Amino acid sequence: MIPVGRPSIGREEEEAVTRVLRSGMLAQGPEVAGFEDQFARYCGARHAVGVNSGTAALHAALAALGIGAGHEVIVPAFTFFATGSAVCMCGARPVFADVDPDTFNLSVGSVQELLSQRTHAVIGVHLFGQPCEVRPLRELCEERGIPFIEDAAQAHGAEYHGKRAGGLGTAGCFSFYPTKNMTSGEGGMVTLDDEVLAKRIRMFINHGQEEKYLHTCLGYNFRMTDIAASIGKEQLKKLDGFNRRRREVARYYDTHLRREGILTPSVAPGMTHVYHQYVIRVTGDFPLSRDELARYLGDKGVGTAVHYPVPLHRQPVFSGFAGNTGCPAADELAGAVLSLPVHPQVTDEERAYICRVIQEVP
Ligand SMILES: Cc1ncc(COP(=O)(O)O)c(C=O)c1O
Repeated sequence: MIPVGRPSIGREEEEAVTRVLRSGMLAQGPEVAGFEDQFARYCGARHAVGVNSGTAALHAALAALGIGAGHEVIVPAFTFFATGSAVCMCGARPVFADVDPDTFNLSVGSVQELLSQRTHAVIGVHLFGQPCEVRPLRELCEERGIPFIEDAAQAHGAEYHGKRAGGLGTAGCFSFYPTKNMTSGEGGMVTLDDEVLAKRIRMFINHGQEEKYLHTCLGYNFRMTDIAASIGKEQLKKLDGFNRRRREVARYYDTHLRREGILTPSVAPGMTHVYHQYVIRVTGDFPLSRDELARYLGDKGVGTAVHYPVPLHRQPVFSGFAGNTGCPAADELAGAVLSLPVHPQVTDEERAYICRVIQEVP
């Protein structure tokens, strides 16, 4: 089976982990600090704070920005669950905006309609590796004096008009889950310029500790380990190469998947897409439904996935939020999208085989 996602781990990562294990320093130490410095520089941000997941990155960024009870945060309806749940974990209420059906990213018009006095932040997700429309979204936030947060969990190395994700908003939140464009096993990072905010995040992820055993606020243990950071440092060195290969595979699909009923992903002007996922849409003109095509490909040894079958405004846990039902593009995408293998280990033969199988569907 050609897997839809697979981490690329080499000898460098194995040796880095062994080095940390032998050092006896397994929790927070020099590896985390080094990874933070290198990742901040890579993203063009002044600071970076390592955490133990992308979910923790979102939660910590929101909490440090003072998001809490009585506040609304606008998030896209079409994204991974954590974008919305992090808002709830702070005691605030997520408000789900619709997305652009071609780029899958936040619709600026939908955000505009939902902004109100209660809105205290907007989270833009760079979904599947393509930056969202940062400039107009930031402008809307700046007019109201509220933060614009990047959920860059799927967009390591993606660029918006030449500037990297993670350096485009008040804070950028990354995930290093194994299938992401780079991994640390599990892990995450918040990137940002504001030193005071960075300090608040550092406290929040370490039990609200200001100095050893002196706690001036409540917090969690969201700390990254040195083991994870040592993997992350090696992966960061390889990230541009990984992304180059993802883009090559995607370009091949763009030209070889031309068939009625299959829509390949659109890239908006000024965006450098890093294809965390290569997501096609299966329309009514295709002989099989999306789910039938997924099964057909599975039978032929091609792994696929649906990102995401249930949009956030349809999630049972969010059903208490009245008025969050009008996201027709998100609803339509949930029934049409299918992710194909695009990770750096997909070979030239495999990508050709995948296209052939789809072209030959009777
Ligand atoms: C868009 C988005 N946000 C947040 C997260 C959460 O990251 P993690 O799984 O590392 O907690 C993910 C992970 O899949 C994601 O894809």
